[in-house]
Amino acid sequence: MIKTVQTKPYTDQKMGTAGLRRKSKVASQENYVENFVQSIFDAIGGVEGQTFILGGDGRYYNKVAIQKILKMAAANGMKKVIVGQNGFISTPTSSRVLLKNKADGGFVLTASHNPGGPNGDFGIKYAVSTGGQCPTSLSDKIYANTLNIKEYKILETADIDLSKIGVQKLGDMEIEVIDSLQDYVDMMENIFDFEAIKRLFKSGFTFCFDAMNAVTGPYAQKIFEDILGAPKGSVVNYVPMEDFGGLHPDPNLIYAKDLVNLMWSDKAPDMGAANDGDGDRNMILGKKFFVTPSDSLAILTDNYKLIPAYKDGIYGVAKSAATSRAVGRVAKALNIGYYEVPTGWKYFCNLMDSKRITFCGEESFGTGSNHIREKDGIWAILFWLNIIAETGKSVEEITREHWKKYGRSYYMRNDYEIADAELANKLMNDLEGRLPSLEGKTFGAFKVSEAKPFIYDDPVDGSSTKNGLIVYFEDGSRIVYRLSGTGSSGATLRVYLERYETKSFNENVEKYLEPLADVSRQIGEITERTGKTKADLLT
Ligand code: G1P
Ligand code: ZN
Repeated sequence: MIKTVQTKPYTDQKMGTAGLRRKSKVASQENYVENFVQSIFDAIGGVEGQTFILGGDGRYYNKVAIQKILKMAAANGMKKVIVGQNGFISTPTSSRVLLKNKADGGFVLTASHNPGGPNGDFGIKYAVSTGGQCPTSLSDKIYANTLNIKEYKILETADIDLSKIGVQKLGDMEIEVIDSLQDYVDMMENIFDFEAIKRLFKSGFTFCFDAMNAVTGPYAQKIFEDILGAPKGSVVNYVPMEDFGGLHPDPNLIYAKDLVNLMWSDKAPDMGAANDGDGDRNMILGKKFFVTPSDSLAILTDNYKLIPAYKDGIYGVAKSAATSRAVGRVAKALNIGYYEVPTGWKYFCNLMDSKRITFCGEESFGTGSNHIREKDGIWAILFWLNIIAETGKSVEEITREHWKKYGRSYYMRNDYEIADAELANKLMNDLEGRLPSLEGKTFGAFKVSEAKPFIYDDPVDGSSTKNGLIVYFEDGSRIVYRLSGTGSSGATLRVYLERYETKSFNENVEKYLEPLADVSRQIGEITERTGKTKADLLT
């Protein structure tokens, strides 16, 4: 029976950089998910006759929310929902399944790399028919709906069993439970030279993939161990858990600690890699060697000819403004299009849809291509394995040769956790006001050449977005300031530091960037306003 439920609005359902992300305790309040979902359905003029994709990274509250969404979809007249088996689907796979089935939209229940569990985070990402996240114009409309919502529709019925592959009915709606894993494997096989990678593993190449108790464990076991022949045990933490076993499933040097310890030990395999909670982020490591995501994007782009799917040529490449400019140098050398966009994957999607770019990436461990409209963790790792298989060189050799050829961007992100969001907003607003007065001033060894907000005029849809503030220095260094759009409480000030060198490669990146970090605190009045003399997290 279809039930219309009266509800009261929540005022905090504005989507951020990657959908709606909230503390599990907030998201599990009465009607919280229902309000948000109905607001989306209403914003797109109803979902009658439509097909949606649904699944999540398996974190706490996924199961409950999936049942709610299915029952609401049926009550709102949706034609069909395609669901990952047991409700699991990685973010890249969801994009693939959405595109392949020409679906009208989709939900991925994830807070990406944020911790899960009752005390962790929960999230809902809403994708549109192009396979990417919804444009700002639509998310604004959805937010307006959440502020005015009075009722939602839901089917009163028992929970649906999502363990069996196949089609079932929920009222008049069809639910198709799919093995999303096979779809993803087929796609990867069509992009990379699996035979070459098989030979690499056969030759004794060793590898460790840390799935961080999150959604890509089963994908990684199947692809790396079963198909490509990496030794059994190469994939660790492969069972997805509701709280990620207490891990913070963010693949970086801080949170992927076990993998980092292994890679810096005498037992280190030839390559180490990790993904985040929903499988769209990646980290690449060699023996005692870390590849920054900015360098990784540049290196993949420079080696596109080695990959079957790209060898005949690529469109351009894009990066978020905060990402280092390493890939810009490659784009110039290859004479391909190059775009700098605001943070958030949706800006890349327009460029991919309009065939302006093939590859894109962010400093936050996200890399991808136009095979889907999300970043893709396993794709990036397979790309590296394919390059290694073709060149016979190690992760470190490939990276060092890249620096030799193009110079090196020393790069680091400093995050300051600021409990008082208002204080953080004021810090940014005041800094923006001071920008013009900075030009020509000297801070330590750094002289400001230009200081301005980053403004992106989308060449495809004509929209204009301001995202962050950039200070350029005469020696080619750069500081980017922006506030995070994915936090679930308070504010995170992100400060991105970059220095460029063509010679004498200094190995201690943190130390080398320390003077610039000092300047960033001075220019942003960070210590003065927050009391912090050091960032809370360096990545
Ligand atoms: C963060 C990253 C950004 C990424 C997003 C979603 O957003 O910085 O690059 O696209 O997560 O994974 P932020 O919190 O900085 O807004
Ligand atoms: Zn993610």
